[in-house]
Amino acid sequence: DWTPGHVVDELVTTIREQVGEDRVLCALSGGVDSSVAAALVQKAVGDQLTCVFVDHGLLREGEAEQVEKDFVQATGVDLVVVDARERFLDALAGVTDPEAKRKIIGEQFIRVFEQAARDVVHDRGDEEHPVKWLVQGTLYPDVVESGGGEGAANIKSHHNVGGLPDDLQFSLIEPLRTLFKDEVRQVGLELGVPEVIVWRQPFPGPGLGIRIIGAVDAERLAILRRADAIAREELTKAGLDRDIWQCPVVLLADVRSVGVQGDGRTYGHPVVLRPVASEDAMTADWARVPYDVLATISTRITNEVEEVNRVVLDVTSKPPGTIEWE
Ligand code: XMP
Repeated sequence: DWTPGHVVDELVTTIREQVGEDRVLCALSGGVDSSVAAALVQKAVGDQLTCVFVDHGLLREGEAEQVEKDFVQATGVDLVVVDARERFLDALAGVTDPEAKRKIIGEQFIRVFEQAARDVVHDRGDEEHPVKWLVQGTLYPDVVESGGGEGAANIKSHHNVGGLPDDLQFSLIEPLRTLFKDEVRQVGLELGVPEVIVWRQPFPGPGLGIRIIGAVDAERLAILRRADAIAREELTKAGLDRDIWQCPVVLLADVRSVGVQGDGRTYGHPVVLRPVASEDAMTADWARVPYDVLATISTRITNEVEEVNRVVLDVTSKPPGTIEWE
């Protein structure tokens, strides 16, 4: 019968057989899937695994720390953190088109990961045990979605890391490919992955970069990060985390509106709250967050984030609106 303990035992055995004495690499995003996959491989082969976490500077408050401290502490993984914040900001400077942003972020990510992989090969690999495997957090629904067959699933998986160059030849380990999301969460808890990671809501790869409408820069990121942290804190406090699929906070960085604070006129930016309810992100409804929770979020953001003087609520379903604004 299905218990997370049995699943862990079975998968650990399989991974050990598969990997043998080789070295393994994993790109950690901080999301549920890559974290649980990494924890599982770590349990199976210990320090034969090295995880690479690329900090692209588009993360929310506390996320890098969650991976660097909490995850490492809980699992004991060997982690390489690459601080690529400046590089991503430079590449994104002045770019406003959503697809251009995605493309730039994806490309930079590959380049940074590729370099980190080479460094790991150099620093950690020895002649006898080269880095041979790349861990992917592919789930069963991903396998089905990409056609079900072995080959099709691999195409999608390769695509997830963005198509690494030929001279970095890895074989894929996909330890979660028979599991559904709720099973992955149970396995994660069984492995001691911190609850904040196990229950994390979806967060897009391009991060806050696609939640700033307009060009991305350090100042705008700082504004959005503070507003987002307040919204998340209040939604959590209200016990709504598991009712809501996710709640993007979007900064309309090129829009300004007049406001009043104390005796003075303000001319600040609006942020949009986009709480949605969904089963699979393919369709979504705007979530009916209680008015008093919205009121608290609005008051706190406009009080605590100086540059923001207006909070608006997105009441659009998907379709026609997507969940993210870009
Ligand atoms: P949309 O905006 O298309 O989002 O309704 C559907 C779900 O996917 C997430 N999302 C992304 N995830 N890379 C990701 O890893 C991306 O580029 C990306 N764009 C959107 C979004 O947060 C939502 O959960």
